[in-house]
Amino acid sequence: MAQTEAFAPAKINLTLHVTGQRADGYHLLDSLVVFADVGDVVRVSPAPQMSLRVSGPMGAGVPEDARNLCWRAAEAFGEPVAIALEKHLPAAAGIGGGSSDAAATLRAMEAAFDRRFDGDPALLGADVPVCRVARAARMQGIGDQLAPVTQPVLHAVLINPRVDVPTPAVFKALSCKENAAMGDLPADGADLAWLSAMRNDLQEAAIALQPVIQECLTALDAVGAGLARMSGSGATCFGLFRTATEATRAASALSAQHPGWWIVATAVR
Ligand code: C5P
Repeated sequence: MAQTEAFAPAKINLTLHVTGQRADGYHLLDSLVVFADVGDVVRVSPAPQMSLRVSGPMGAGVPEDARNLCWRAAEAFGEPVAIALEKHLPAAAGIGGGSSDAAATLRAMEAAFDRRFDGDPALLGADVPVCRVARAARMQGIGDQLAPVTQPVLHAVLINPRVDVPTPAVFKALSCKENAAMGDLPADGADLAWLSAMRNDLQEAAIALQPVIQECLTALDAVGAGLARMSGSGATCFGLFRTATEATRAASALSAQHPGWWIVATAVR
């Protein structure tokens, strides 16, 4: 059997409302999720035993064993494979790097072994179900309730100050866990005006843990973003621009100002 390949796009939470907490500690969410044109690449080849090799510009420090969600996804699928993971997305960054890698591993394995994954992707992580669909969706529950949405392409700049933000710490630091749900989505998709009226309820808590996140938002505002907001539990922030050209120009200006930050212009859809 030949090698198969799957793309693991960055996941962006355009909104992320925290509406409650379950008895088991997991939080109830209401989020508009979209996917970028940038991402990691996962390649799998059937092999006598499991192995994982990580490469790519963001590969440093990424585990090459069962701590990696790709490995756990392959185990859940139930076939030994040699996995090659090409990392382009920063880890622990609020853009679903590990979750999208796990989802892509499942997709690559479905193609390699010509059968559907019949397990529960949510067992691999709360963001894995939406990453498996990899299309614009309203995500509710703890991440397990998904509804596809119509969403026009938006032009974004993603910016990460290269600090890790552990998701559990951010949820723990939340001052209010019962916030208003997201409003009804416009029938033809969310635009800048509608998005501006929504929130990321984790943003304030993440900034308290890593104040540099506020610097990212301020930097996006300063280069003309129509909206600047954090994705997931951070630290990655996105800015939205009217055109791809404006986004590319803003990304170049920001890269010159902050050479140590991870900054890309991308369409999100
Ligand atoms: O499921 P995942 O491993 O991605 O979640 C990481 C952590 O984020 C969980 O251990 C939990 O602390 C927090 N979380 C949460 N509510 C969610 C999703 C994640 O509290 N809906």
